Amino acid sequence: MSKHDEMKKIRDELIEFRRSPLFEYRTSNGYFPVVGEGSHDAKIMFVGEAPGENEAKTGRPFCGAAGKFLTELIEGIGLKREQVYITNVVKDRPPENRDPTPEEIALYSPFLDRQVKIIQPKAIVTLGRHSMGYVMKRYDLDLELDAISKIHGKSFETVFFDDDNQPHPVTVIALYHPASALYNGGMRDTHKKDFEILKRFM
Ligand code: URA
Repeated sequence: MSKHDEMKKIRDELIEFRRSPLFEYRTSNGYFPVVGEGSHDAKIMFVGEAPGENEAKTGRPFCGAAGKFLTELIEGIGLKREQVYITNVVKDRPPENRDPTPEEIALYSPFLDRQVKIIQPKAIVTLGRHSMGYVMKRYDLDLELDAISKIHGKSFETVFFDDDNQPHPVTVIALYHPASALYNGGMRDTHKKDFEILKRFM
């Protein structure tokens, strides 16, 4: 199956994901699941937490205020949004933008694992502590896991395995969620500085 078809299969499964506790909330509000967007051959894959209202209304990740800042950061290192891949751990909007529950993360994360195998990125960049926690535990970096204030902007080498059980090296980089700069302007410089580390994957 082509990358495009594999990703389409994920989208079709998400549309029909009735066993999710977020399914009823999505359909009763006319929301969309947010699969992800960008290049299926991206070297850098950004992983946020869960869609907010703008994202659920449009089906596009990071398209609200936090997304605008994320785009600015991506362009600030000389990349275009279309050159990277952007997704979330949880693909449906939790009510009132609450944090995703551990059960929701467990339920949706297999879709993210499949997306990692499809895209085969060189770097997985987590945005916020929930995606950091999931991705670092999933890819055997439990021992390196710490408070985001301690490990933001650091890189961790690990591997993921494809469906033929072949290992692929990948670097995991934990960054603060871009929304943090919306309520604390001082964070903008921290984000810009942390983003510099991504230049080596371009
Ligand atoms: N916050 C996220 O974590 N993901 C989005 O897609 C938008 C806001």
